[in-house]
Amino acid sequence: MRTDAAELLLAHMRARSHVAPKRLEAPGPNADALNLMFSAAAQAPDHGRIRPWRFIVIPQEKREALGQAFVQALQARDAKASQAELNTAYDKAFRAPCLVLAVLSHVPSEPQVPTHERLVSLGCAIQNMLLMAQTLAIGSGITSGQSMNASSIRELFKLHIDEECVCYLAFGHVTAYKPQRTRSEPAAFVSVLD
Ligand SMILES: Cc1cc2nc3c(=O)[nH]c(=O)nc-3n(C[C@H](O)[C@H](O)[C@H](O)COP(=O)(O)O)c2cc1C
Repeated sequence: MRTDAAELLLAHMRARSHVAPKRLEAPGPNADALNLMFSAAAQAPDHGRIRPWRFIVIPQEKREALGQAFVQALQARDAKASQAELNTAYDKAFRAPCLVLAVLSHVPSEPQVPTHERLVSLGCAIQNMLLMAQTLAIGSGITSGQSMNASSIRELFKLHIDEECVCYLAFGHVTAYKPQRTRSEPAAFVSVLD
């Protein structure tokens, strides 16, 4: 049974695609839009009701510190990194008008919830955020990389020892979307137990 609401939801899902942070322009989401996106995250399924994740918004005045942390992370893993590579690492902190860090928690819980279930919950929360952004005509992208859990990054974000940085979410205005990529048909990934 197809409803208008279902068609609309699928249309928003189809319209979303990854946008590289350097192509996300100002204006970013305002406070109300950001609040809607985080409210969407809160609707994620969460086995044990432990909410094993949180998000940290990185305001413009902290981008400089993030850039320095990216540089330190690169120097720590590659003492021979060139000045050009260090500059690129630094510049990444200034891309996209809105940048949010997604953090996974491994803090022991009662009931016990294994890591893969915690990660599924975070993934659902992230997708909820991306879809809310899309519905608000806000572009989004996810980035990660080798510096995700470098000590300079963990110190900057004051992470608990049982927490892990998973990825950055970038949001902003998109002037030109790339052509939509072809998605799998359900038959490619669904079977029936026989
Ligand atoms: C956990 C995670 C980390 C990602 N990290 C990166 C990244 O570092 N660089 C990048 O270009 N895309 C990254 N992506 C985005 C994927 O490349 C993108 O989702 C994929 O190409 C599929 O495209 P779509 O989102 O438009 O469907 C990441 C996605 C996820 C889920």
